[in-house]
Amino acid sequence: MTIHTVPTTPFAGQKPGTSGLRKKVTEFQQPGYLHNFVQAIFDTIGDCSGQTLVLGGDGRYFNRQAIDVILRMAAAHGVGRMLVGRSGILSTPALSCVVRKHGAMGGIVLSASHNPGGPDGDFGIKYNTSNGGPAPERITDAIYAQSQVLSHYRISDINCLNLDQDGTFVIEEMTVQVIDPVADYAELMAGLFDFRAIRALFAGGFRMCFDGMSAVGGPYATTIIEGMLGAPAGTVINGVPLEDFGGHHPDPNPVNAAELIARMAAPDAPDFGAASDGDGDRNMIVGRAFAVTPSDSLAVIATNATVAPGYRAGIKGIARSMPTSTAPDRVARELGVPCYETPTGWKYFGNLMDAGLVTLCGEESYGTGSDHIREKDGLWAVLFWLNLLAVQKKPVETIVREHWARFGRNYYSRHDYEAVDAIAAQELMARLRAMAPSLAGQVLNQYTVALADDYHYTDPVDGSVSTQQGIRIIMTDGSRIVFRLSGTGTEGATIRLYLERYEADPAMHGMDAASALAPLADIADALAELKIRTGRSGPTVTT
Ligand code: G1P
Ligand code: ZN
Repeated sequence: MTIHTVPTTPFAGQKPGTSGLRKKVTEFQQPGYLHNFVQAIFDTIGDCSGQTLVLGGDGRYFNRQAIDVILRMAAAHGVGRMLVGRSGILSTPALSCVVRKHGAMGGIVLSASHNPGGPDGDFGIKYNTSNGGPAPERITDAIYAQSQVLSHYRISDINCLNLDQDGTFVIEEMTVQVIDPVADYAELMAGLFDFRAIRALFAGGFRMCFDGMSAVGGPYATTIIEGMLGAPAGTVINGVPLEDFGGHHPDPNPVNAAELIARMAAPDAPDFGAASDGDGDRNMIVGRAFAVTPSDSLAVIATNATVAPGYRAGIKGIARSMPTSTAPDRVARELGVPCYETPTGWKYFGNLMDAGLVTLCGEESYGTGSDHIREKDGLWAVLFWLNLLAVQKKPVETIVREHWARFGRNYYSRHDYEAVDAIAAQELMARLRAMAPSLAGQVLNQYTVALADDYHYTDPVDGSVSTQQGIRIIMTDGSRIVFRLSGTGTEGATIRLYLERYEADPAMHGMDAASALAPLADIADALAELKIRTGRSGPTVTT
């Protein structure tokens, strides 16, 4: 066993985006590519001697190889103890849970979340800090800067590590503890939700379908929903994680979870449907022939938080990303708690939760969570809904329609223009940025612009500033058009257009979202010249 110092040269573009470094598997497979980035992490986080780190991923193609490299590099950097999920598996929320529970210095998550996997798919790596959450920008910027100047990496030459069995072994001076990927997380969930009430719900014949999308959420859902909560076998579909997610796009939205949506629309549909993504941090909530938008889900959870034992004392506040609908804001107002607006990406919620300012957080991109960990948490949201359904005993659709009747409905949709020419996308955004200051006061169709700007955020806890976080055009009635470029894509650029319209009048709550939002979509296209500049007749994906 020898520790080698291997000369290397920087790879351009190792800049973490919205959620870590995401690239094509083929890019990660270049000799030294992963090693360089991991070295940049170790150089940035400093002395790890005697410290605990947590390591795991969503099991996608290249997970095993990456785990092997990272373990050997961790050993070369004097890490005291490494907790690794069995077979290299840990969902993103489970990793956050393990970091917090075991007082680790941080953790390394291997995932490209909802992006497709396999040899031609995507891979990703992300560093989480001791609070269990994604490293803030100041750290990811430092990792990037280091990746651009490093000249060597350090690695142990030990091999043949068996990660398929729980147990403990030693590499160099580092103790490797292989842990059950589900146990700590399941225990945390059992403390937050009324498992007895949910068990009784299932015992009474309540039927559910959970789509694991052949991704890492499957084993967690199977253990908890079928095992601990007694749902019948077969409740979890696509529950075995596959390296390529069975060729599917593991993003739990009505487009990519089409199998679940079809089952939930069938005459014999179960009472409740849900899905989670590649790494288990996203969720979709579905009733019979009724998909709940993520923004509405957050608003419903906030309204009903106290049904769950873990939130009986009430919530301190809510945070949502800027493009997420303002439905949660209305709930916060009624509850008399603050609602924070942050840039896109879960990392912006960490400070607010650490400072005790918010309990619940959410994003329109099928992300919901609370301060129980510092990542969004797909299964947590599903368990919350199960707890709510066990208490209220009403269909999902009724719960949401009653919510709209009380608070008004925020019609909401996101249009993605994927893999657009990067220069064309930059130009489109630059043009909107230049145009924004002159939009206020303009009348566009039936709307009048109240405010238009390039959103920037000052973190209320540490004062850090994030600029250029999306062009927002807010109408006098609260309706909004938002444009931003994706920070997670790996091909060209992805333009995201977010549309929101508020309707207080219950008589107007029966429209489908596409028709309700069509006038705003027309304005967005006219302003941004979306179709002309992207050369597309419409979005690639609409959710
Ligand atoms: C997308 C979502 C964002 C989410 C992120 C990671 O980022 O829009 O809300 O936090 O994935 O799951 P984007 O590609 O838009 O930068
Ligand atoms: Zn994810």
